[in-house]
Amino acid sequence: MRILTVVTFVLLLMHQSFSLSRPQCRSCEQTSCDCSRQNLREVPAAPSKPITELDLSFNRLKAIMKKDFAAYASLQSLIMNNNRIETIQEQAFVPLTNLEKLDLSFNKLDTLSAGWFENLFSLQHLNLLGNTYKMLGQGNLFQPLKRLKTLHFGGPNLQSVRISDFSGLSGLEEVHFDGQNLQAYARGSLRQIGSIKSVTLGLNDTKFFLTFGDRNPPNMDHLEVVVLKNIEVPQFYSFPALFFLEPLLKAVRRLTVLNCKLFAIPCVTSARLSKLEYMDISDNIFTDLAFSQMMCDGKGGPLGLQTINISRNHLQSINSQLFTKLDKLKNIDLSGNMFHSMPETCYWPPTLQFLNLSSTHLRKVTTCLPVSLRILDVSDNALTVFNIHLPFLTELYISGNKLIRLPDGGLYPRLTFLFIQNCGLQTLSSTDLNYYNDLKSLEAGGNTYVCSCDFVAFMTSDLTNHRVTVGDDFKSYICDSPDALRGTSVAEATLSVFECHTSLAFSVLCSGILAVVLLVAGLCHKFSVLWYVKMTWAWLRAKRKPTLKKGELEYDAFVSYSEMDSGWVEAHLVPELEQAEPPLRLCLHKRDFMPGGWILDNIMDAIDKSHRTLFVLSQHFVRSEWCKYELDYTHFRLFDHNDDSVVLILLEPIDKKTIPKKFCKLRRVMNSRTYLEWPDDDNQIPRFWQSLRTAIERPETDNGNCLNEPMGLEVF
Ligand SMILES: *[C@@H]1O[C@H](CO)[C@@H](O)[C@H](O)[C@H]1NC(C)=O
Ligand SMILES: *[C@@H]1O[C@H](CO)[C@@H](O)[C@H](O)[C@H]1NC(C)=O
Ligand SMILES: *[C@@H]1O[C@H](CO)[C@@H](O)[C@H](O)[C@H]1NC(C)=O
Repeated sequence: MRILTVVTFVLLLMHQSFSLSRPQCRSCEQTSCDCSRQNLREVPAAPSKPITELDLSFNRLKAIMKKDFAAYASLQSLIMNNNRIETIQEQAFVPLTNLEKLDLSFNKLDTLSAGWFENLFSLQHLNLLGNTYKMLGQGNLFQPLKRLKTLHFGGPNLQSVRISDFSGLSGLEEVHFDGQNLQAYARGSLRQIGSIKSVTLGLNDTKFFLTFGDRNPPNMDHLEVVVLKNIEVPQFYSFPALFFLEPLLKAVRRLTVLNCKLFAIPCVTSARLSKLEYMDISDNIFTDLAFSQMMCDGKGGPLGLQTINISRNHLQSINSQLFTKLDKLKNIDLSGNMFHSMPETCYWPPTLQFLNLSSTHLRKVTTCLPVSLRILDVSDNALTVFNIHLPFLTELYISGNKLIRLPDGGLYPRLTFLFIQNCGLQTLSSTDLNYYNDLKSLEAGGNTYVCSCDFVAFMTSDLTNHRVTVGDDFKSYICDSPDALRGTSVAEATLSVFECHTSLAFSVLCSGILAVVLLVAGLCHKFSVLWYVKMTWAWLRAKRKPTLKKGELEYDAFVSYSEMDSGWVEAHLVPELEQAEPPLRLCLHKRDFMPGGWILDNIMDAIDKSHRTLFVLSQHFVRSEWCKYELDYTHFRLFDHNDDSVVLILLEPIDKKTIPKKFCKLRRVMNSRTYLEWPDDDNQIPRFWQSLRTAIERPETDNGNCLNEPMGLEVF
């Protein structure tokens, strides 16, 4: 048991020390390890999770051993450039069946072996540049690499290329061939690969046999494409340097001279470029004058040109006349020069379809822009308006300007693609897009959008109604205002109903308030709240006044009656009581109320100054509002004084049940009080008056409580 443990421990230790002996890579992310520039002398231990990318560039690897990649079977990209690799063991890459990219450039490999590549079935990109090999292995080097698309090879030591070197390569798309010291090239070697999209040749001397299978080297009659890039010409100003190219250029259709400090091509030379269709002289130092000379001042030059690219030179003015005679010219790229302005009128060839004026410091566009344009790039200028009618334009690149609004769609009826990012655009709406009938794709991110409800709704739903797709990342549509939404993506902007329907919300709110006010007013009216308030106030005031002594009372009775019953009151009641002996003094509102006084005050005053309050009850009385109030007040007083000052006369029979509910007071008073009834029988009338007088008359002494006696002689 113990022995076993010890053995296990030792084994563990061994295992540990074995893996410890391999360095660790310091920067691994999920599926990739960037172990470049870590002074590694050995391939590091594989991380616990399988990775697909391993960068070992700029280390000190010297030899690649058989087991080095045993734990890296899932690797798709292996970068090992700029090490000191001298040897690679035959079986080293056997586990890497998934490898698509292998970079072994700038090492010290002096021999190449076909055995390395035997298992790399997936390899598409191979870079062997800058090593010390003199030839490409023993032949058939790339035979196993059936999927290879790009191949970079060669270096200062490569001396010869044989036919068999490229056998088996059929799908190759790009070859980069550094043959600066090449001495032997077997004719047709590259040609057997078939058509290759791009070949870059690094050769020391251009007079060297650049033959793609031609019979008579160094015949250049068939050289159609010349690309010169990043060439340092130390004495570039001693211009004849370029003359040596002349014989080379007779048949050339495409000429690219990029970043070579090229500053002139004389008219005589350019005029010979009769077959030239495509000319790219970007990133050089042409001035207006030199360019004008190259174009033979608009009188000649490379007349067959279809595309000219003179971007990023030192031009300062747009001189369309240089192009007028080029009747095949379709594309002009003038981007990256410093024009600041453009002339009002220009003379472009009618064939012109593409014009690139991006990054040229333009502040304004004019009718100089050719009407025939299909594609126009005016990005990254300082335009504030774009309003030139271009009826055939299908693509407009106008990002990076200072437009606040979308250009008027009516001016570009055929526009399909619109790029208007980073323009300070504040909004987009249906109306803006209405005239863009053909628009399919819009890229308008990075603007300073005002996230109004209309705009957010438009972007999140209506846009699709216009059959327009947002070409760029929808997340780049960011709100700049209102403050609450600043920095939020338009897709996530949420606005409250109140913000979105302000006027509607306001009207709803106002109607609500109005309704409540009306309701309250209605209720007040219905329940006579105002009157009650006033009455309570009046009653409180009355309470504070000292109660009048019996002797101070002005009237014997205040008569409360309905206007409709005034006939009876005037014809019967008043004469009978006032002309009696002794006469009783009655208070009638018609006769005795102070004119102009507040009716309620008058009523209260009258009731207070009267010994009794006489209610002439009838159907009319029940219907009269004022009578109700009088009754109410009296009722208040009844509770207040707790005395019997009310006399009820029933002018006609009233069924108590028929009295409307709101006259609950009357009902109560009628219940609690006996009343006198105006008799139908004339014989009873004197008795009625007698009883009434008794009820009203003031007793001689103050303690008289005759009213507590049954006062109604007739009780019904
Ligand atoms: C280019 O070739 C010339 C001889 O033709 C040689 O002197 C020169 O060193 C070569 N240049 C390079 C960079 O190999
Ligand atoms: C012109 O050259 C520039 C820089 O190389 C490139 O970005 C641009 O696409 C070229 N234009 C055309 C029309 O080929
Ligand atoms: C215009 O030129 C710029 C700079 O050379 C380039 O980035 C852009 O892609 C060109 N525009 C078009 C539409 O090709």
